[in-house]
Amino acid sequence: MDRNSVVIVTGANSGMGLATSMALARTGATVVMLCRSEKRGKLALDEVKRESGNDSVMLMVCDLGSHKSIADFCLEFKKRYQRLDVLINNAGVVIPGRHQTLDGYELQFGVNHLGHFLLTNMLLEVLIASAPARIINVASGAHKIGKIHFKDVNLSENYTVWRAYAQAKLANILFTYQLAEKLEGTGVTANCLHPGAVATNMGINRKTGFGTYITKLLKPFFQTSAEGAATTIYLATSNDVNGVTGKYFYKKRPIDSSKKSYDKNSAKKIWDLSEDMTGVQRFNNI
Ligand SMILES: NC(=O)c1ccc[n+]([C@@H]2O[C@H](COP(=O)([O-])OP(=O)(O)OC[C@H]3O[C@@H](n4cnc5c(N)ncnc54)[C@H](OP(=O)(O)O)[C@@H]3O)[C@@H](O)[C@H]2O)c1
Repeated sequence: MDRNSVVIVTGANSGMGLATSMALARTGATVVMLCRSEKRGKLALDEVKRESGNDSVMLMVCDLGSHKSIADFCLEFKKRYQRLDVLINNAGVVIPGRHQTLDGYELQFGVNHLGHFLLTNMLLEVLIASAPARIINVASGAHKIGKIHFKDVNLSENYTVWRAYAQAKLANILFTYQLAEKLEGTGVTANCLHPGAVATNMGINRKTGFGTYITKLLKPFFQTSAEGAATTIYLATSNDVNGVTGKYFYKKRPIDSSKKSYDKNSAKKIWDLSEDMTGVQRFNNI
């Protein structure tokens, strides 16, 4: 990564997304901070610019729970930038109680998986044109208890926060492996990772404050955001991973993910389902 590199970090205003943006801004690269809130994004942008001394850090607003918002983001990004060297799909939501995206899908599957599926597919052309380029998906060890509920992927029945989160994180990994295969020979790599347990805003309800107390209690045992972002930053910047693709990393090393995550049939099924649910073909023809 150098001063000519262009990077997108999703969920860049908080936790590991903010720590990743800060570290990459310090390399001198152009960092596009994708945030859903203009207000929270602006605060984070000012902090990154101030502390990194890098003026080519930009905020772009996008709600990954809205396919229209993602399509608008991609069109605007392609107008402003001619290249994309690293796409970091980091944003994530964990939320008790079943909620839906603007497109009517269960929120955790919709944002954590479908939002990034659409974003990535809409940016593939520019990534391939910028090769060698990298896609990094922030997954989670929680995928191990996950199952893709193909008959009710929106969990309209039997919703629990963990069932939804683990399904979405397993989808992140199946997506990564399938993507790596599809991108073979293009010079674009796709890897995913588990950051470990990290004290961030994850799981805290902004309106009610629910979760704050638990996070405070666990903080001494958890990593800081900067520590948690280390594997993401490694995958974005290190020459050690030149050409490495289709792997799941933990603590900067490739490790095995769950048996289910290597199931080719599930990977194909979820790819096809995600294409239908996002209408990616239609968006790609815009
Ligand atoms: N923390 C952990 O222990 C842990 C463990 C394993 C994996 N992870 C993964 O690490 C990643 C980063 O999470 P974090 O722990 O750093 O949590 P965080 O501090 O809560 O950050 C999550 C980011 O995602 C953004 N986001 C949520 N919904 C969005 C949407 N609809 N559109 C665009 N952005 C959206 C949030 O924006 P707002 O601030 O506006 O809500 C925030 O910037 C996630 O993918 C998570 O699943 C975390």
